[in-house]
Amino acid sequence: MEDENFNEDSLNELLNDYPPEKSSLIPILQASQDKYGYLPRPVMKTIAKYLSIPVSTVHGVSTFYAQFRFEPIGKHVVKVCHGTACHVKGADKINETIESKIGVKSGETTEDGLFTLERVACIGCCSLAPVIMVDGTAHGNLDRKKVKKVIQSYREGE
Ligand code: FES
Repeated sequence: MEDENFNEDSLNELLNDYPPEKSSLIPILQASQDKYGYLPRPVMKTIAKYLSIPVSTVHGVSTFYAQFRFEPIGKHVVKVCHGTACHVKGADKINETIESKIGVKSGETTEDGLFTLERVACIGCCSLAPVIMVDGTAHGNLDRKKVKKVIQSYREGE
């Protein structure tokens, strides 16, 4: 969701579920990210106002935790496992192949909003290494050719 589409009423509704005190900050940030997919600037401002704390505090706390994001998330989230088993079986090559196929680096989202690429630690299917997870579905035993096909299948699903 773009900043300009963010709906103040729906955010106020969310905020009303929490007492307006500083200890509500993390739960509110989590709920806001669940709702918007990331933390748009105007959302952080409204949260600061609600909790009567400076926006810089909201920003400082949210950047401290890796779970929060500040850019819109892509429609498909591609997580490349860089755990030990996947690393040994060529996770770097898989990562490079995806980066060149979709044109963004890890941590970024494609301009068309279709893919967000992320690096993750072991996702628990080491026997399928190297593995990627797309929108919660694991794809394993990958090589460069197979991973290109997987990404293509999500493109074609549009
Ligand atoms: S190391 Fe990749 S799934 Fe475990």
